Amino acid sequence: MSKYFVIGNPIDHSLSPLIHNYWFKKYKIDSTYEKKKIETNDLKDFAEEMRNNKNFEGANITVPFKNKIIPFLDDLSSVANETFSVNTIIKRDEKLIGHNTDATAYLETLEENNTWPSVKTLIIGAGGVTSSIIWGIRGLNCKNKIYIINRTKQKAEKLIKKLVPNLIGNGIEVLDWGDVPDVNLVVNTTSVGLNQNDYLKLDFTKYNNKKECMFYDLIYNPKETNFLRDAKKRGNQIKNGKKMFLLQAKQAFKLWTNVDAEIDEEIVKIVD
Ligand code: ATR
Repeated sequence: MSKYFVIGNPIDHSLSPLIHNYWFKKYKIDSTYEKKKIETNDLKDFAEEMRNNKNFEGANITVPFKNKIIPFLDDLSSVANETFSVNTIIKRDEKLIGHNTDATAYLETLEENNTWPSVKTLIIGAGGVTSSIIWGIRGLNCKNKIYIINRTKQKAEKLIKKLVPNLIGNGIEVLDWGDVPDVNLVVNTTSVGLNQNDYLKLDFTKYNNKKECMFYDLIYNPKETNFLRDAKKRGNQIKNGKKMFLLQAKQAFKLWTNVDAEIDEEIVKIVD
């Protein structure tokens, strides 16, 4: 029996085990998928165990380890390499290969909504998933403006410097935390909201009654964060991370099993 894990900290919110175990059952694949909370110091041992345990076939990586896992892997896919971010590991001949299905999933959600390529975007955060969002926007060959704000401004500046040689970082401006420019799409890539009481301390009142403006939270559990609830009250459009989450899971499942899993009604209910 093959084993799969998702590692992160916090990890309680993760619905990945429900999804992958549902698909393993549906497609009659003899495998299990569990969540595991670990500390940064455990990453090396985790990778070592995965390399040496023959049943241990793959893993998902979530906050805050998407960048931090990279030094312990043997190779990266081109997207993982361009984004410095890994959310999926596959094992081939005892070698651990890091992939990034967040970026390709985000690109797919953008492709589904063909008005988005023309928008100006404000990205909040500069953590492990932020580069995937930039990659998705640039993947649409979109040269429109992207602004980034992060509580720790230097971290956003460091991220952009790393991305510029990769081209996808061109045309991105880092603003001060608290600066909220006029854009049509605001994406929360921070972990603020994973706990229901979390609040991003930002003032979005200038977006009052702006129906055309979309507030997008990558968090899917809880399904309506304070960030989204406030946007709804202001009259903005809102979207949570459910679709992107399902698409990244589908793509990870395909990498592990070569099965094109269906996002059926049951799976949508599981995530709701
Ligand atoms: P990492 O920062 O280790 O990559 P992450 O979970 O991928 O971990 O990223 C966390 C993101 O959420 C960061 O952008 C972080 O901002 P800092 O770089 O300033 O730490 C952001 N974040 C976490 N808690 C926050 C808070 N209370 N207010 C604003 N941003 C927060």
